[in-house]
Amino acid sequence: MDYKDFGLVNTKNMFQDAITNHYAVPAFNFYNMETLTAIISAARDTHSPVILAVSESALNYMGGDTLMGMIWGLKLRPSDMVALHLDHGHSFESCVNAIKLGFSSVMIDGSALAFDENISLTQTVVQYAHKYDVSTEAELGSLAGIEDENTKSEKSSYTNPDDVVNFVNATNADSLAIAIGTSHGAYKRKSDTEELRFDILKRIADQLPDFPLVLHGASTIPQDFVNQINKFGGQIQNARGIPANQLRRTVEMNICKINTDSDLRLAFTAGVRQELFSAPEKFNPRDYLSVARQNIYKTCITEIKEITQSANRLK
Ligand code: G3H
Ligand code: 13P
Ligand code: ZN
Repeated sequence: MDYKDFGLVNTKNMFQDAITNHYAVPAFNFYNMETLTAIISAARDTHSPVILAVSESALNYMGGDTLMGMIWGLKLRPSDMVALHLDHGHSFESCVNAIKLGFSSVMIDGSALAFDENISLTQTVVQYAHKYDVSTEAELGSLAGIEDENTKSEKSSYTNPDDVVNFVNATNADSLAIAIGTSHGAYKRKSDTEELRFDILKRIADQLPDFPLVLHGASTIPQDFVNQINKFGGQIQNARGIPANQLRRTVEMNICKINTDSDLRLAFTAGVRQELFSAPEKFNPRDYLSVARQNIYKTCITEIKEITQSANRLK
């Protein structure tokens, strides 16, 4: 089915508006009804555009038909400015599958490949996606941490600013994820003084003015949730995210999509752990899932207001 039949939009106009008006569009990962409805309620209540991100493993977990059934149930309109985006697609087939399901945007992540192979895979996906007016994201340079259950990389290699113009021209991708020191998961920095590589971001943005740049691995890792998880039986040690002020600085420097997954996972788990502990006599999953959903809703609102600054941007 065509994504437009679901009331979805691609990311092109979203990013154009974000660049012109100096904010970023939040991309939140979801994997079930609770996470999806929390994200949508937060976007609606703050009048923010939003990108609903689905990893390959999350798509597999939900099943394509169930996922699209839930999207249908949101009764979206193009004025809501909601995109459905495949996060870290690793193959042409994976992107085609998402587009056929009704995704309005796909990421082809060839960052683990050699430069030329990354170009050639990205070109193939972009050509296919553009036939259906689906927007594309590519990645150059790779992030440390876990990008997907199937792909674990420990090392980070920063994006080389000298490569970006060639890459974008050769691939015709609509947006580019870059590596400037963020990483996926909850263990992003060894010390509180570590800073993102703003020098690399500046060199990239100087060479690609007005081109949508994307920041993955951008969770802040709220310590309240980490502490709550540990208080109620969890064991998450030395978890550290990217401080909000550094993220805001990237937005001022042309990052126009900020990806968040881990913060929502922490919000969800903290809620479930606390609720199960405080009301041990309860066994109705809707009790603790409601608390988890509310935690996610509040976390999305905080990130929209304090990081992406995308509240009240809908026309
Ligand atoms: O960037 C990666 C996301 O956090 C996806 O993780 O494959 O476990 O859903 P996942
Ligand atoms: P975090 O692990 O920092 O939330 O990153 C999420 C992400 O980049 C999804 O693509
Ligand atoms: Zn990512």
